[in-house]
Amino acid sequence: MLPAAHEEGWVSGSIAHRPVLLHETVELLAPRSGAIVVDGTLGAAGHAHALLEAIGSEGRLLGIDRDVEALELARRRLASFGDRFTPIHGRHEDLTSLLRDAGVFACDTMLFDLGVSSMQLDRPERGFSFRHDAVLDMRMDATTGESAADLLARIEEADLRRIISRWGEEKRSGAIARAIVRERERRPLVRTAQLAAVIERVAGPAARRFKIHPATRTFQALRIAVNGEIEGLERLVNDAVSLLRRGGRIAVISYHSLEDRAIKTALRALANRCTCPPRLPVCGCGKENLVRIVTGRPVRPGDQEIDGNPRSRSARLRVAERL
Ligand SMILES: C[S@@+](CC[C@H](N)C(=O)[O-])C[C@H]1O[C@@H](n2cnc3c(N)ncnc32)[C@H](O)[C@@H]1O
Repeated sequence: MLPAAHEEGWVSGSIAHRPVLLHETVELLAPRSGAIVVDGTLGAAGHAHALLEAIGSEGRLLGIDRDVEALELARRRLASFGDRFTPIHGRHEDLTSLLRDAGVFACDTMLFDLGVSSMQLDRPERGFSFRHDAVLDMRMDATTGESAADLLARIEEADLRRIISRWGEEKRSGAIARAIVRERERRPLVRTAQLAAVIERVAGPAARRFKIHPATRTFQALRIAVNGEIEGLERLVNDAVSLLRRGGRIAVISYHSLEDRAIKTALRALANRCTCPPRLPVCGCGKENLVRIVTGRPVRPGDQEIDGNPRSRSARLRVAERL
């Protein structure tokens, strides 16, 4: 269910945050009534709302987000669920300790809907977007860590090129990194519009023919670097699975091919640990498989969802069940 359009913060700019693959996620997670659910990327609480409804009056959901603004919004949206909802400020990299501090040592259902929310992208002052001029911040948790402007002020050109190439999959990474370094030699590079203009100059008039704005990939790469979005995903899956009860399910929605690869690798490793010959009735190697993969191929949004929410275009949902 989408929030009311007038509700503060739900719609900023033109696009509200719409939970991606919502029905597919709830259907594949199939949380039982009374379940303990952990949403490790609470965001605007779209998935959390649907999951709380699915688990009924005996169920409980703990929602983690590193963004205090998102948490505050989620808190308001989920207020009607009372103490069945527990908001937690923190990074899901610290999943085990965050849950332990909340008195939770095992759960039935887990969701990670990775990346940024539309709210973050569309709030000019968060500095994620080249569409609005703002301070070049890009931190999901604005209370801590290095901003994109800080990163650009100190990074070596070769490292910057690698970031833009790897996480932005940008062909012009060398020329863009060089232009950024030249710009910062002239004056501090601290505004989103300033960075976008540097990249537009590299792209030149040919940019008019590009399907996406020439700064899209570089902004994505910097966002991933600033927030450390991809390192640690495999460990996250391992930690999450070790907290799941038998029969419990984990779902991960990713938006970048490198994220999806990390999730696929981690889940496959947990599904194929056992080295016993298939004819053995019970595992004798001591490395039992920990999960069964529920989605052989990742689930992708259909045309209708993509038309209504273009940001869902790159989403891939993978689900596994704890054995
Ligand atoms: C795509 S949004 C989630 C949207 C949510 N499923 C919904 O329906 O509204 C991702 C959220 O995860 C948060 N996030 C991203 N990385 C995180 C991390 N490492 N730890 C905790 N929260 C994180 C972001 O701040 C953002 O609010």
